Amino acid sequence: MILDKVRESFVERFGKDFRLFSAPGRINIIGEHTDYNNGFVLPAAIDKCIYLAIQPNGSEAYNIFSVDFQQATTFSVADTAEDLPHWAKFPFGVIQELKNLGHYMGGFNAVFGGDIPSGAGLSSSAALESAFAYAIRNIFNFDIDNLTLAKIGQKAEHNYVGVMCGIMDQFASIFGKQGHAILLDCRSLEYKYLPIKIDDYEFVLADTKVKHSLASSEYNRRKWNCEEGVMMLSSQMPQVRSLRDVRSKDVYPYKGILGEEVFLRCEYVTEEIERVVQAADAIDNGNLQLLGELMYQSHEGLRAKYHVSCDELDALVEATKNIEGVLGSRMMGGGFGGCTINLVRKDEVSTFKELVSTYFTNKFGYAPDFIEVNIGGGAREVVLS
Ligand code: GLA
Repeated sequence: MILDKVRESFVERFGKDFRLFSAPGRINIIGEHTDYNNGFVLPAAIDKCIYLAIQPNGSEAYNIFSVDFQQATTFSVADTAEDLPHWAKFPFGVIQELKNLGHYMGGFNAVFGGDIPSGAGLSSSAALESAFAYAIRNIFNFDIDNLTLAKIGQKAEHNYVGVMCGIMDQFASIFGKQGHAILLDCRSLEYKYLPIKIDDYEFVLADTKVKHSLASSEYNRRKWNCEEGVMMLSSQMPQVRSLRDVRSKDVYPYKGILGEEVFLRCEYVTEEIERVVQAADAIDNGNLQLLGELMYQSHEGLRAKYHVSCDELDALVEATKNIEGVLGSRMMGGGFGGCTINLVRKDEVSTFKELVSTYFTNKFGYAPDFIEVNIGGGAREVVLS
C-alpha cells in the first residue's frame, strides 16, 4: 500500500521521526468551468489521496522525495522554480505563497506518494498542494484557517505551474466530508454539505487515458474568453461583475456584441451555473432522473459551446446513451482528456463497463479504464495506531 511505502521510504532516508498527512483528489458531480466565473460547483473528495510524511530539519533546506517518480530534490526558499522537476513546483509554490503571507519556516524533510491516477482529472495536483499546505501549517503551528490553505494551493498553481485555475479542487481537497458533496458558491465561498443520497445508484468514472497537451493553454484561453465576455456584458448591464451575475436567457440578446466564440462561452457558463443549483435540488429531492439529464446537458455544453471535450470523451458519453440503468454521463474536470463521470444503477455497473469498453475499443483500439471511488474526507493528519 502506498501509505506504507511513504512511511518506509521516509525512515530509510531521514529516520523514524515524522508526522503523516493526507489530502484527497476529487470528483465533480456538475459545475465545470464555473468556479473561476464566481459560479457554483458540486465536487466531492474521494478516498484516493496524496500521503505525506514530513519533519522539520532545523536547516534552510527542503529535501523532498517523490515515491511515485522515485526522484529526490532539494531547494531553498531563495531558489527559483525553473530548474525543479515538475512535481516539485507544487510544494515550492506552496512554500513561496506562505512566505508571501508572512509565514517563514525553516526547512523540512518530506516524502510523498499517492494513489490518485494522474492525468485522469481527479486533481492530483490540488491534492499535492493541499497536503503540503495543510502539513506545513500543522507542523509549524501557523495560525492559518482552512480557506486560506485552499487559496494558497490555488495561488501556487497560478504562479508556479501556470494554470489560472479556480478554487474548486483545492477547496474540495481541504473541506471534503465523507459521504457528502460540497455545494460551493465560488463568489461568497459559502458552502453547504449535501448528503449524497443516490441509493441504488453510484458514480462510476471511465478514463480515456489521454491527456491532450492543449489542456493548460486552452484552459487559460477559456478564462480570458469569459473575462472578455464580462467586460462586454458589463458595458451593457453595469451591475454585471462576473458571469454569475448574468442569467443564461440574458446572454442571447448580446450575441452580436459578444461575437460567436465569446457568446458560446458565456452561454455555456451561465447555463451550467443554473444547472448546478438544479442538480443540488435534484439530489436533495432524490430526483436522480433529473440529475442524470443535467449531467448529459452539461456534457453537451462542454462539447458544443465551451469546446473543451475531445473525441475520446465524447465517445465515452455517447456509448452510455442506450445502456439500461445509466442516468447521466459527462466529461469531468478541465477537459481535453481524463475521465467521464457516470451515474449508473449498481446492478448494471458490470454491463455498463462491458458495453462502454467495447464501444470505445472499437473506435480507438484500446480499452478505457474504470475507476472506483468512494466519497471520502478532506485533508487530515493520519494518526498511526
Ligand atoms: C480544473 C481546475 C478547476 C476547474 C475545473 C473545471 O480542474 O483546476 O479550478 O476550473 O478544471 O471545472
